[in-house]
Amino acid sequence: MDYALNEDQLAVQEVARTFSEKKLKPNAEEFDAQQKIDRDLLKEMGELGLMGITLPEQYGGGEMDAISYMVTCEELSRGCPSHCGVVMLHNSLYGFPLVKYGTEEQKQKYLPRICTGEYIGAFALSEPGAGSDAASITTTYEAIDDGYVINGNKIFITMGSMCDNCLVFAIREKGGGAKAISAFLVDRETEGFEVGANEKKMGFKASPTSELIFQDCKVPREALLGTEGEGFKIAMSTLDGGRISVGAMAVGIAAEALELAVKYSTQREQFGKPLAAFQAIQFHLADMSVQLEAARSLVYKAAWLKDQGESYTMAAAQAKLFASEMATKVTHSAVQVLGGYGYCSEYHVERLYRDARVTELFEGTSEMQRIVIARQLLPKS
Ligand code: CAA
Repeated sequence: MDYALNEDQLAVQEVARTFSEKKLKPNAEEFDAQQKIDRDLLKEMGELGLMGITLPEQYGGGEMDAISYMVTCEELSRGCPSHCGVVMLHNSLYGFPLVKYGTEEQKQKYLPRICTGEYIGAFALSEPGAGSDAASITTTYEAIDDGYVINGNKIFITMGSMCDNCLVFAIREKGGGAKAISAFLVDRETEGFEVGANEKKMGFKASPTSELIFQDCKVPREALLGTEGEGFKIAMSTLDGGRISVGAMAVGIAAEALELAVKYSTQREQFGKPLAAFQAIQFHLADMSVQLEAARSLVYKAAWLKDQGESYTMAAAQAKLFASEMATKVTHSAVQVLGGYGYCSEYHVERLYRDARVTELFEGTSEMQRIVIARQLLPKS
């Protein structure tokens, strides 16, 4: 694996960095306080080619490789992880399964719209009683003459209350297991599809995390993604890719926290010299940088495997697990370096600390990543 970014990757890194510096970073505290995603900024990211960076050119995407995408997620997350989350939805959780399993009609209908950033897609798997145990969902679907009827509740859906279309996973009969699950593309205006409350959260606040309710929600036959019974495989293979980008988000959050800690330590004086002159602070910074680089390498490695067409299930879980736990530690250290100021929102590391925490939870908790990794290591029982 070559660690140097190529010309295209460097170019997209520059685009994402400039946008993040100018449009996201200066407003991130306000987005957090107001719990607001700025739709105009989503459109701007669409115009810059970031919303569909990995999606096929024929549908308006950039068709770039996974490394370019990770570099983009890192840069955008340095500015505002919540806004980066929409790019991740469109490229990973919503765009990827459409490209891989969608019909030509489905691709033409939805992909160009999400690439512009004007239309928002979401991914609805989790339920009140089915989080880590994704195969135990109880949202049901029933086949009828001209389509399907969906009934049930989804929770923790990123951008749920703002989505225009949602990839919904439902089961033919409760308790039917993984092979009874199918996936459906449900338009927001479909009768019987309602948005419930948004969660009050610790971090990742600008991005709404919503409940979705399906009550006798009738969708046409063309709403089925892939074939009946293929839903669990669609969800798992989609999450494999999504997990690498969560790792990249964690790397971006930690990189920003480290930069802020370095800057502060050279400016703040105590006992007659800058904090950076004290070995206690230097050791914090050194440890933060080692952890960060190790995580970035795992993220790039998983993305590289994906680009090579190799299996990346295990590498993605390793990257997400290590990077997300690293981000929690690194942002914790950043708060420590800044002391009391680190606890105040004006200095940003307080928000980064809160934003980092969700990377250990969504798209599979750290415990689930360990299960995925262990299953790849051990013979099938
Ligand atoms: N790719 C393709 N197929 C896969 C797969 C993968 N990565 N992983 C499993 N499968 C297939 C298996 O091969 C198996 O099929 P066969 O029987 O034909 O071989 C089938 O799926 C069932 O697999 P398992 O028996 O391994 O399934 P399990 O019930 O034991 O679950 C698990 C495994 C890894 C724990 C899984 O449930 C899991 O990943 N849980 C975490 C769920 C998760 O990440 N939720 C996040 C919600 S989405 C989100 O957070 C986004 C948001 O908007 C907030």
